[in-house]
Amino acid sequence: MSIFTSINLLLRMQLLRRNRRLRTNEAIRSLIREHTITPNDFLVPIFIVEGKGIKVEIPSMPRYYRYSLDVLKKEVKELWSLGLKSVLLFVKVPDELKDNKGTEALNADGLMQRAIKTVKDATPDMLVMTDVALDPYSSYGHDGIVDDGYIVNDQTCEVLAQMSLSHAQAGVDFVAPSDMMDGRILAIRELLEKENFKNTGIMSYSAKYASAFYGPFRDALDSAPGFGDKKTYQMDFANRDEAIKETIMDVEEGADIVMVKPGIAYLDLVRDVRDSVDVPVAVYQVSGEYAMLKAAAEKGWLDHDSVMLEQIMAFKRAGAHIIASYFAKDVVKLLG
Ligand code: PBG
Repeated sequence: MSIFTSINLLLRMQLLRRNRRLRTNEAIRSLIREHTITPNDFLVPIFIVEGKGIKVEIPSMPRYYRYSLDVLKKEVKELWSLGLKSVLLFVKVPDELKDNKGTEALNADGLMQRAIKTVKDATPDMLVMTDVALDPYSSYGHDGIVDDGYIVNDQTCEVLAQMSLSHAQAGVDFVAPSDMMDGRILAIRELLEKENFKNTGIMSYSAKYASAFYGPFRDALDSAPGFGDKKTYQMDFANRDEAIKETIMDVEEGADIVMVKPGIAYLDLVRDVRDSVDVPVAVYQVSGEYAMLKAAAEKGWLDHDSVMLEQIMAFKRAGAHIIASYFAKDVVKLLG
């Protein structure tokens, strides 16, 4: 374009490109929309307790519940009917079964192992994932074995591998190690291969930060650390490059899916990770994120459904293939 043409254009003040044309009405907006939300996007976290007929609301997570196994059956059938086809299971373990080594985690007839079978029984095609970490089983509320105030790494990995094997034997599709020990993906993968669970997958919580957003979850499972914090294993939230290192190592060790956690405050990492690896990327919109929106909506300060959809869309836009979210059911019902 010559300088004269430019000046001419400026003088005429004639816009040739008007971006607002593409926003004129819902039809054109939906025609050019870059991302969509469907039930296929979601992984539904579920909290499970011992007992019968139990559906108890978690105080810091309004309208989210802990279920006993009989009620769990109904719940997963409802999820399936809504088009939600993947669940991520967590168990609340009675205090008397907790110890330093997480012994109960390996019980073939433990609550998690029964929960896996219950879901498979009620909804055979549901994809079942399980959280693998010692915190709900640990008398210290830590993700690994404690020795002299330190969370020991290699010994913990051995237990996590055994725990994963136990879940595989109960019929899990994917184990999801959430502990951030070094080398746990390799330890789990090797044991699963050796025991011929070649098709049992691993979704690694690969970039998991030491975050205050996990508070309500720890209420849900009564799993808050008894001493100290989780900063010697979960990542420092000041770091970005480290997330890529962690993620690439987990993929090299055999992770089928990687994850960034928490969600909304970590969208930069979702995009970084998406651009750095060739496996599917999950994001976890954690309990504190759920609680914040519920609280603000209760006060009438935010419009619950609009903010919920905006946040879920933000995960898609950032590059997530899978969204673990306590809002999954609400979103899918809303979309109809
Ligand atoms: C267990 C685990 C935690 C979460 C998922 N798995 C808690 C933690 O690491 O302290 C958090 C999930 C949430 O806050 O929704 N290791």
